Amino acid sequence: MNIDWPQLRAAAVDVAGRAYAPYSRLRVGAAGLTADGQVVVGCNVENASFGVTLCAECGLVSALHATPPRSSGPGSVASGATPALVAVAVVAGDGDPLLPCGRCRQLLLEAGGPTVLVDTAGGPVPLAELLPAAFGGADLSARRAADQTAPS
Ligand code: THU
Repeated sequence: MNIDWPQLRAAAVDVAGRAYAPYSRLRVGAAGLTADGQVVVGCNVENASFGVTLCAECGLVSALHATPPRSSGPGSVASGATPALVAVAVVAGDGDPLLPCGRCRQLLLEAGGPTVLVDTAGGPVPLAELLPAAFGGADLSARRAADQTAPS
């Protein structure tokens, strides 16, 4: 599918302007394109209890799940399902690309899989390059099944 990167980056810059970052003063905006052609966004939200801070990508992933899928057209999925994320742009408030932190790479993996494209200063790269040898849902079920000591 065609990915309009300038549009995605512009959406990330726009939402970075709505970030709540009074402590770090680093505004972050994230914009994602879904397989059914929708754009979802998120911004960072800080808290006086610093560990409670939400990264911009957390907001994006929440928006992804909260957005109803398109019921027809390319990339449409069954009603109630969440469309896959195919591309993500994360920027700092100055508009420069920002690489997602480790926790957010893990979140993006579950939302878009290893092939989701993530914008970088050098251009878009598959998430698998930023999060190689990732732990995922398949590992969870495989190891749980293999654990003879697990309570039934
Ligand atoms: N931040 C994000 O929003 N996303 C990232 O991937 C890296 C960090 C935010 C969290 C915090 O509000 C600020 O940037 C400084 O760490």
